Amino acid sequence: STTRYEAETSPAVCTGTIDANWSGYSGSGFCNGDNAAGAYAQFTVNASTAGTATVSVRFANGTTTDRHADLVVNGSTVQTVSFPGTGAWSTWGIKTATISLAAGSNTIRLNPTTTGGLANIDYLDVTTP
Ligand code: GCU
Ligand code: CA
Repeated sequence: STTRYEAETSPAVCTGTIDANWSGYSGSGFCNGDNAAGAYAQFTVNASTAGTATVSVRFANGTTTDRHADLVVNGSTVQTVSFPGTGAWSTWGIKTATISLAAGSNTIRLNPTTTGGLANIDYLDVTTP
């Protein structure tokens, strides 16, 4: 099944502001991370059993430069994800990754490694078998 975790909904954390000035987001807003390395968006997601999960990140990047973030699962960086330009801040794209989750509660953090910061982050969809 698939569960949606909105970036603006606690216990999610956004090192920045929850904004709603660019249209097309889901829920009541999106995470506009500070444009700084380490200014992250973090989600707490549940998995009923340990195993592989697909995570789909909805994002917008109104610049023409890719933004990169480490994908940190339960404190360990498992891969680096790129968020290419979507053409406008109000145009949203989906980036998908496959990760392993533990049974129960897991943290998934998108942690930008450069001063460019994150793309704007709308939500995470987590699909478990
Ligand atoms: C603009 C835009 C923000 C975005 C920021 C950025 O300020 O309005 O939504 O987060 O650029 O470059 O990160
Ligand atoms: Ca930003």
